[in-house]
Amino acid sequence: MTSDLSPVVAPTDVPEPPTSRPHRRVALLSESFQEFGSAARHSVTAFGMDRKRPDGDGVVTGTAVVAGRSVGVFAQDRAALGGSLGQVHAAKIARVLDHAAKARIPVIGLLDSGGARIQEGVASLDGYGAIFRRNVGLSGRVPQISVILGACAGGAVYSPALTDIVIMAADAHMFLTGPRVVKAVTHEDATPAELGGAAIHSRRSGVAHLVAPDEHAAIDLARQVLSYLPDSCWSAPPVVDPLPAEPMPDVPASHRTAYDVRSVIAGVVDAASFLELQQTFARNIVIGFGRVEGRPVGVVANQPCSRAGTLDIDSSEKAARFVRLCDAFGLPLVTLVDTPGFLPGLAQERGGVIRKGAKLLYAFAEATVPRVTVVLRKAYGGAYIVMNSRSLGADAVFAWPGAELAVMGAEGAIDIVWRRELERDPDSRPDLVVKYRAEAAAATKAAEGMSVDEIITPARTRDAVAATLRALSAGEPPRFRHDNLPQ
Ligand code: HXC
Repeated sequence: MTSDLSPVVAPTDVPEPPTSRPHRRVALLSESFQEFGSAARHSVTAFGMDRKRPDGDGVVTGTAVVAGRSVGVFAQDRAALGGSLGQVHAAKIARVLDHAAKARIPVIGLLDSGGARIQEGVASLDGYGAIFRRNVGLSGRVPQISVILGACAGGAVYSPALTDIVIMAADAHMFLTGPRVVKAVTHEDATPAELGGAAIHSRRSGVAHLVAPDEHAAIDLARQVLSYLPDSCWSAPPVVDPLPAEPMPDVPASHRTAYDVRSVIAGVVDAASFLELQQTFARNIVIGFGRVEGRPVGVVANQPCSRAGTLDIDSSEKAARFVRLCDAFGLPLVTLVDTPGFLPGLAQERGGVIRKGAKLLYAFAEATVPRVTVVLRKAYGGAYIVMNSRSLGADAVFAWPGAELAVMGAEGAIDIVWRRELERDPDSRPDLVVKYRAEAAAATKAAEGMSVDEIITPARTRDAVAATLRALSAGEPPRFRHDNLPQ
């Protein structure tokens, strides 16, 4: 018996679902996918290109649903002209970005491309220009996440560098120019891994925020990152069920004894919610997403077990961009301070620590999201000011009972202020240290002057931070604040 509801197309005529590598990658990322532009392809005839006209022109584009949220997606196909970007390939990505701008949804790019398509010349360069302009136009408006899944060169790395988060699979590569071009121009021999492997970009250059062992894990990290970010700067970050924090660890009382500040972060944020970014780059500062009572926050913390928690060029730039990312997308900032100051020295001065440290100063001073600071043990000098101090606009500053907030540490300070007394009576040093700590550096002094709002025990830290963020959460509605300029 037939009915009006009988299928018009016989099952044998239904097209097979696409099984190319980029389609499989999109399927790993998303629950559902609406492709567009699958039939688009170039019409270049030079260099025998008329015999190489893959459907889709080497990139799969469309909108997908990721954890129930709409997202613009593109995935490049290394098997089609090396994933290289010609005019049509570029136009397809540009359309995804335009769509995301109009719909105010995030963009996730799965990159696997040799860069500008050599055979298409300036048209492919202009294609990249059009993409870069859109990446910048979306910056600070919708989250942009790049996942690097192959050997990416030229524009295929500059576009990710304009986005908010770069995730690399361990066997992927990123370089402006590949090993063969490097050899020809500078006569340097470098393997792809030495030139732009995941180890280089996670430890040395800081280009990669996250590295995953394989492409499944890399794509899964993109989903995780998205779980902390709103659809756009005009919507609120996603809230999940709250979890308790870990117990607060015992931090060594001696300011000279190192510990891992990540154990303190675990005592502040919801259990297992901390996702550290740039973990092995500029280890003297720790940054990452977390949640407090189910709401996403950005955490910035000095790391006493790396370079004693000093600030320097790399840590300033690392933290500055993260602070601006969080501020752009409405994530409150939780700052944990334990720093002896900026790292002094010729290398830092000549490397431009004045200019580069200023980026972190600028980022905190500019931020208008809720901002809470906890001084754990010490906050000296310029680093005290930079690390989200009261005068830079923190909404709440807490300090642990033994914390010191001062222009410098006791030993250095008494050598300057009481130099003559020490020359006369070297035995007076211990007394002067005690006097300095009590009268100039104690957290109680900072609390008297309202640079610290409240002195709290370590065990109270999570509650104090959570209560403050809860109280501030009903503040101004989401809005566009600023872009997320690469640092
Ligand atoms: C056209 C390209 C291509 C490109 C690779 N292919 N890159 N085709 N344009 N840019 C093709 C190759 O011809 C080859 O095709 C296939 O892709 C695989 O390339 P292989 O070299 O065999 O692969 P592999 O050894 O893995 O090396 C990958 C690579 C290398 C490191 C990416 O291909 C490479 O160095 N490509 C050039 C990179 C580059 O300089 N791009 C331009 C950057 S300028 P067949 O048919 O043989 O399989 C740019 C402009 C923007 O992007 C700049 C912004 C500032």
